[in-house]
Amino acid sequence: MAFLAERLDRIKPSPTIAVTMKARELKAAGRDVIGLGAGEPDFDTPENIKAAAVEAIRRGDTKYTNVDGTNELKQAIQAKFQRENGIAYKTDEITVASGGKQVIYNAMVATLNPGDEVVIPAPYWVSYPDIVLLCEGKPVFVPCSEANGFKMQAADLAKALGPKTKWIILNSPSNPTGAAYTRDELKAITDVLVRHPQVWVLTDDMYEHLVYDNFVFTTPVQIEPRLRDRTLTMNGVSKAYCMTGWRIGYAGGPASLIKAIAKVQSQSTSNPCSISQAAAVAALGGPQDFIAQHNAVFKERRDLVVGMLNKAKGLACHKPEGAFYVYPSCAGAIGKQTPDGKIIASDDDFVAYLLDTEGVAAVQGSAFGLSPYFRISYATSTEALKDACGRIQRACAKLS
Ligand SMILES: Cc1ncc(COP(=O)(O)O)c(C=O)c1O
Repeated sequence: MAFLAERLDRIKPSPTIAVTMKARELKAAGRDVIGLGAGEPDFDTPENIKAAAVEAIRRGDTKYTNVDGTNELKQAIQAKFQRENGIAYKTDEITVASGGKQVIYNAMVATLNPGDEVVIPAPYWVSYPDIVLLCEGKPVFVPCSEANGFKMQAADLAKALGPKTKWIILNSPSNPTGAAYTRDELKAITDVLVRHPQVWVLTDDMYEHLVYDNFVFTTPVQIEPRLRDRTLTMNGVSKAYCMTGWRIGYAGGPASLIKAIAKVQSQSTSNPCSISQAAAVAALGGPQDFIAQHNAVFKERRDLVVGMLNKAKGLACHKPEGAFYVYPSCAGAIGKQTPDGKIIASDDDFVAYLLDTEGVAAVQGSAFGLSPYFRISYATSTEALKDACGRIQRACAKLS
């Protein structure tokens, strides 16, 4: 009898983490590798946030807290939702977990019965389908083409919704494409959802603050208050506050769901790190000006990467509105031959070729549910990005 549970066969390890680990390994073995796989800002956590954590340790904030977050942090999150999104959540409508990923995981554990469907626009963040599968749910994908800016069309959404649909997961700005929905685009989506009262909405707003060219971020409840009672508005400090390692994510939603989520957490990890929670209070309540400074750098890098990739033979790179990813097509490289005689048959082959020949680590589009593409994270130094895009151009030029 197999020792490992069958549910483990349904999922795969995170491919983005796998690429990052492989790049790290090759580097440690002395190879000249540029990792463009990781989804985290290269900027350090701002000093005031670090200072708040040190102060929390000195003060003795080193004990268990409320399972789903301290009152101080819930109040800071409440103020954030009001200030930035115009949504009034009470503190019992707010939950805090060890990262946004845990919020999603808890929500799915708390709500999915075997066979329940979760609609996921593709390309998607790698963890959505696998979390759903772990919880015995069934992911239902809605393809979002490049021609539509990788954004879901209302008619396609309507077709995917059915009597078994329990959730839809929205993510704007998106990992892996950087696509962000304008207010009108999101309104078209919420108009459909209003007509399907059995469907709950999980909106992953993790990249809210990472938008460029004066793009205005909006979230479903802000646009359509009628969805408030069946929407989980998820967010976190990982990306905008450069706090990926601190592990704090949070969400606002109806008290009944928030309570169910806390029940799951109470029997798994209990409270998120007390020190990280104190740091998150400082992040959400403190100065926000560094976000605009970081965004100016990210925008420059996005433009650099899009420009250079569009000069690479066989690649075409759409310019996204936000996040720190681009999702170029490598359709023009498919079917071509490498200098040592291998045929590039897929985006998996293409990223393997980039890593082998030029030491550039990117993630294949197949991992995100739309091929033939690949994802590049431009949350790395401008110098490294220039170098990496030069290498990609060279690798593409060698294909025949
Ligand atoms: C779209 C999206 N949602 C959620 C997360 C998880 O964030 P956290 O580090 O807070 O768990 C990520 C991280 O990569 C992400 O890209």
